[in-house]
Amino acid sequence: MLVVANWKMNPLSVEEAKQLFSTISQKEEVVICPPCPFLYLGKNFVLGGQNCSNKKEGSLTGEVSAFMLNSIGCKYVIVGHSERRVIMKETDDIINIKALMAIDAKLTPIICVGEINKSNKGEEIERQLKIALNGINKDVVVAYEPIFAIGTGNPCSIDVANERRELIKNILKEKGLEKSLVLYGGSVNSENVSFYTKQAGFDGVLVGKASLDANEFNKIIENALCSRKS
Ligand code: 13P
Repeated sequence: MLVVANWKMNPLSVEEAKQLFSTISQKEEVVICPPCPFLYLGKNFVLGGQNCSNKKEGSLTGEVSAFMLNSIGCKYVIVGHSERRVIMKETDDIINIKALMAIDAKLTPIICVGEINKSNKGEEIERQLKIALNGINKDVVVAYEPIFAIGTGNPCSIDVANERRELIKNILKEKGLEKSLVLYGGSVNSENVSFYTKQAGFDGVLVGKASLDANEFNKIIENALCSRKS
């Protein structure tokens, strides 16, 4: 079970970031992905980057290498988040290179996939995942994050989420990566988390907004870990 916090571009000050780190339950199943300037504050946590470059090093102003993330103690890096696919126009091929770069740097990539359109029957995530996994022969983490559920307060229905989880698991199996964890992300909160971790059988969750409220996030952690035990 993995509970991953994606703080995105929040909070705005070091004081607020310190406050969040000091109040979040620190557990081996909990991964915090803060903005890069705050990574040093979370030394006692399992840490992840929110993005990495598709290049190892060089003249790339503003970019962060997966190797740098590894060297400061990160274990994970998110790649292919829909905000980067849509806003930064990252392609499936770029995401594949980033995932390979992460593995090269001894990080586990958290590969995000998710359809833009609700009426899509899974072909979009199938394409995204198959391309992202090209050349990968090590277990990864895959996060199913449908765009319509991100930041909207309208999480994906359990039935659709379960169908997508099965599709993702099958693709991972075909590639010999069946031990890879599959997470759900999109409007997760303390009330709905166990629908995903228990009913829909996900191996954990990727949490945006609710991870910025330590009380709420601690409840999400508790409920997610609880569903694993029962
Ligand atoms: P929300 O939990 O705010 O919907 O964001 C999900 C997400 O994008 C996590 O990566």
